Amino acid sequence: MSTENAIKIYHDDVKGLQVSNISSRSEPLKVLMCSPTYFDIIDVKNAHMEGQSGKLDKALALQQWNDLKDVYETLKQENVIEEVLVIEGVEGCEDMVFCANQTFPWLDKSVVISKMRHPSRQKEVPYFENYFKSLGYQSIHLQTANMFEGMGDTIPHPQKRLLYGGFGHRSDPKAYKEISETLQVPIVTLELPNPNFYHLDTCFVPLSTNEVMLCKEAFTAVGLANIQQLFSKIYYIPESEAIDTFCLNAHVINNDRNGKKAAIMQKGSTHAIDALKQCGYKIYEIETSEYMKSGGSVFCMKMMFY
Ligand code: ARG
Repeated sequence: MSTENAIKIYHDDVKGLQVSNISSRSEPLKVLMCSPTYFDIIDVKNAHMEGQSGKLDKALALQQWNDLKDVYETLKQENVIEEVLVIEGVEGCEDMVFCANQTFPWLDKSVVISKMRHPSRQKEVPYFENYFKSLGYQSIHLQTANMFEGMGDTIPHPQKRLLYGGFGHRSDPKAYKEISETLQVPIVTLELPNPNFYHLDTCFVPLSTNEVMLCKEAFTAVGLANIQQLFSKIYYIPESEAIDTFCLNAHVINNDRNGKKAAIMQKGSTHAIDALKQCGYKIYEIETSEYMKSGGSVFCMKMMFY
């Protein structure tokens, strides 16, 4: 194997992959949110939604969304991020507020369009596709994969042209083969066997090019071994903390232009906060109780793009 990393997808063995040889990437600094006007809990799409139908406090949900938006506005003023943009929620699209899922925007104004598992969420996708089109993005439509849920399952290695792709609940491994070839980026796929961690963004938070925090119960032995090969330092977060506080759905922002680092997360975690502090993040703790009832927290409620 040459020192060049092949553009391919890695399922079982990442030995040929050297992060230090992967070309660099600057981080996206624009944040897109979706207004929660029509957010609701009307069915069970994931384990966290069991017994939550009809239990949403809509006024509180709106307040929590506004509080998150205020944090992003503050981060903009402090030059941690560049922009905060909002797409309007649509009546009948009860989960549209979780705008990490409908697309995967990447470099060179390309955006992979999701194929949502649940029919009610499929209706959300065209609104995001049109939004990115209006910004000059080229859409990539998957041909062979049946399911793909965007940045909910596809997480970039910090500052590298390398992706991690979760599969098992909401994304089909075939999606990653197509994405890898189309975007010309290697992808390490990670199976998610535990129903509490149905998207990769519920259990895996890269913190720097060599550090990651995760919940080991969310992965298979093979997946964990691959992650251990690619990150030299792993912060293991207890499963109960990851489930109860959604701390692994934190949004960590690393502005590689000015070195500013911020993490926004649900209140109440301990191990995850320690890890973030050790890695130099300024932490913003907020309340997202109404969104956790639907199986999401901060990371799910925004999209980062270039
Ligand atoms: N209720 C939504 C669903 O089940 C929550 C999505 C959360 N998003 C995320 N990126 N984890 O689809």
